[in-house]
Amino acid sequence: MTEHRIAPGAAVGVTEEMIHEVVHGFYDKVRGDPALGPIFNGAIGEAEWPPHLAKMCDFWSSVLLMTGRFKGSPMAAHVRIGDLRPTHFARWLHLFRQTVGTLCPPPAAALFVARSEMIARSLQLGIAASRGELPSATG
Ligand code: HEM
Repeated sequence: MTEHRIAPGAAVGVTEEMIHEVVHGFYDKVRGDPALGPIFNGAIGEAEWPPHLAKMCDFWSSVLLMTGRFKGSPMAAHVRIGDLRPTHFARWLHLFRQTVGTLCPPPAAALFVARSEMIARSLQLGIAASRGELPSATG
């Protein structure tokens, strides 16, 4: 039995062009941000930005349009950064919300925000676990 499901983004008008605008607009803000800029620019050299942006377009295309284009390991990438704190995530989410609020119609913006919040939560859990900051199941 084959199920045909419409991708969540397609249902609210997300397109590849919109994803491109969001990704480029967002990382422009991020790179100039006093709290996040130094972290990103420290991890991603000038020449690596175009491939990073292309990867982030693939990521959002996979998440919202289910294209399966993204190949990567977000958890490992963020654990590797080393000193990510809740304040960094709060700032990331604030700038992301601002970006999609400007560039997307409200239903598409709401979907981007909902997914970014879910993924941010799971990244923070993974980071905390990698630092041994979570209680173990067996106590
Ligand atoms: C505190 C907030 C965040 C910071 C400072 C941050 C920073 C970074 C940096 C520096 C990289 C490049 C790592 C590398 O190439 O080694 C990266 C990769 C990435 N980030 Fe984030 N990030 C944050 C939050 C998020 C969130 C909330 C998402 C998803 C909604 C996200 C999705 C990704 C993805 C998909 C990659 C590519 C991973 C890969 O190469 O496999 N990030 N991030």
